[in-house]
Amino acid sequence: MKQKPLLVWFTGLSGSGKSTMANLLEAKLYSEKVKTYILDGDNVRGGLCKDLTFTEEDRVENIRRIGEVANLFLDAGVVVLCAFVSPFAKDRALVKELVGEDRFVEVFVDCPLEVCEQRDVKGLYEKARQGKIKNFTGIDSPFEKPTKPDIVLKTNEVESGELLKELFDYVEPKIVLK
Ligand code: PPS
Repeated sequence: MKQKPLLVWFTGLSGSGKSTMANLLEAKLYSEKVKTYILDGDNVRGGLCKDLTFTEEDRVENIRRIGEVANLFLDAGVVVLCAFVSPFAKDRALVKELVGEDRFVEVFVDCPLEVCEQRDVKGLYEKARQGKIKNFTGIDSPFEKPTKPDIVLKTNEVESGELLKELFDYVEPKIVLK
């Protein structure tokens, strides 16, 4: 498929399912021969943003750098999938402004804190509750819900295949070059 570049930005609490949904979308796009790249905590916080913590100041810088990198990928014609907590509305808006609103899709991975905490895939919520980790989103650091997301994925209510379909149907017309 000939493609137009697009940035699909997944925002949500830790454990909400951002990377899971980004990976599902990537697999689907791959099957349609779309060139993609996923940026998430796993490949960014260990390298490019190794020097950054989870203070407000460092999170702002984290998202700023990611936005710049995503923009370079867009210049190369790639469909970029970014999965970051990105808790501050202002930072998400800055990325949107940087890449241009027609090339930006905001996906709110909306899963209640109680459910994320119950999942506690990495055991971080427990540590945060015990005070062993500071500035943990949802516990002692805020998450500003998107007010006008392009898509909302309720990962605790709807089956992932259905969410993927909704996501793909929204994204596909934006990347198909006719
Ligand atoms: S941010 O806010 O966008 O800069 O965060 P991000 O780069 O997405 O990193 C979030 C992942 O790091 C783990 N982690 C924390 N998350 C939130 N708050 C604190 N204090 C924290 N410390 C470590 C956490 O596992 C996040 O991974 P995901 O994949 O979102 O669960």
